[in-house]
Amino acid sequence: MWRNTPTRFGLTTRLLHWLMAALILTLLVLGTVLVRIQPDLSTLWLYGLHKTLGLCALTLALIRLIWHRISPTPAPIGPPNQWANRAARAVHVALYLLMLAIPLSGWIASSATGLDVVIFGQITLPAITHTSESLENAGFAIHGILTKLLMALLLAHIAGASLRGLKHDGTLRRITKGS
Ligand code: HEM
Repeated sequence: MWRNTPTRFGLTTRLLHWLMAALILTLLVLGTVLVRIQPDLSTLWLYGLHKTLGLCALTLALIRLIWHRISPTPAPIGPPNQWANRAARAVHVALYLLMLAIPLSGWIASSATGLDVVIFGQITLPAITHTSESLENAGFAIHGILTKLLMALLLAHIAGASLRGLKHDGTLRRITKGS
């Protein structure tokens, strides 16, 4: 039930997938709001919420990578060298890289501001860089660019999954119902 099999996604992988999807969509919306508002005392909690959820996303991405070493995911449906399966694989690898690089760039840029990075309203994360305005600007610029790339890849991911859903090849059912 919990573990993956050679043909099925177990409950752990499916829960991690949908939890991550919800978290990332929330973070993309919240981040887009943050760059449009003024950071002041009344909006500080939104920054804290974004950092808290962002660190949760980083932790979940690491848990997923570890879990898939413990319980490998099933092979794609259809021939592995089929172009659609190759494209899907490339998108998945890129999504994982971004799920690590985006929160790390946010953490680096936030540390470079010199302000404490506080999550859950009380836990101060270690500063992973020294205070530097140029690093702060570069870090947030990279954070922004990577999130745009993530949005494009998510659209490709959703389009690919929907096409497979229309073809009823079983891919969409595997990651939703598990059967
Ligand atoms: C998967 C995780 C994350 C996603 C998807 C995400 C997404 C975003 C997005 C879409 C933006 C707006 C970027 C723009 O349009 O330029 C943003 C801004 C921001 N992010 Fe993240 N973020 C994540 C993790 C983090 C983490 C872990 C931190 C800090 C510890 C962080 C700190 C910030 C801050 C402070 C801003 C506002 C930057 C500014 O005002 O210029 N983010 N994020």
